[in-house]
Amino acid sequence: MTLHVVEETVLWRPADAADLDAIAAMHDRCSDETRFRRYNSGLTRLPHRLLERLVDPRLGVSLVAEVDGAIVAMGNLMWCGADDTTPAELGLLVEDAWQSRGLGTAVTRRLLAAALDAECDSIHALVRPDNVPMLRLLGGLDLPLRREWDDGTLTVTVDLAAKMEEGVASSLGR
Ligand SMILES: CC(C)(COP(=O)(O)OP(=O)(O)OC[C@H]1O[C@@H](n2cnc3c(N)ncnc32)[C@H](O)[C@@H]1OP(=O)(O)O)[C@@H](O)C(=O)NCCC(=O)NCCS
Repeated sequence: MTLHVVEETVLWRPADAADLDAIAAMHDRCSDETRFRRYNSGLTRLPHRLLERLVDPRLGVSLVAEVDGAIVAMGNLMWCGADDTTPAELGLLVEDAWQSRGLGTAVTRRLLAAALDAECDSIHALVRPDNVPMLRLLGGLDLPLRREWDDGTLTVTVDLAAKMEEGVASSLGR
């Protein structure tokens, strides 16, 4: 059973360069498995340059969850280059102690609203096939999904076209 966080205890806000140390500390608190599921890499410490890219507003939307002054989760929607046909990429990281409390779902809904605001008609996420929480999260969005396999990684594309037509960004939980 999912233990949901009392909404008022969590502050969601955009991340910026001033958050880099706190974001790095959150990554340090995560298990190897959590980092691997997010970045598909065995790196125990992420390069500063990668963290800088994640909070660069020119490259995407980055939201962090703050609880009592500590960052405990981050969600990213990265624009995928100049090619309009490539959907924006969703990346989520909830530190282990805060998983299974609804934070991943909450930030995804906020990022989908941002995608609709930016007129993206789809977004995608790269998911390890054994990543049950992420697959359940995406499946629970009640939106059309497309799954493609490539070299052990699943790309799940979330189709937002119907939502764009409805013009219901606000109903997605901003
Ligand atoms: C995947 C992740 C973002 C999900 O966030 P979360 O806050 O833990 O998940 P939520 O509490 O919002 O729950 C999402 C769904 O997963 C299910 N779930 C959560 N933890 C679970 C667990 N340990 N085992 C099985 N299902 C689980 C929930 O029940 C929910 O499904 P439901 O709506 O059908 O009940 C988080 O676990 C995480 O950061 N994992 C490591 C990084 C990662 O995998 N990123 C995704 C690839 S970019």
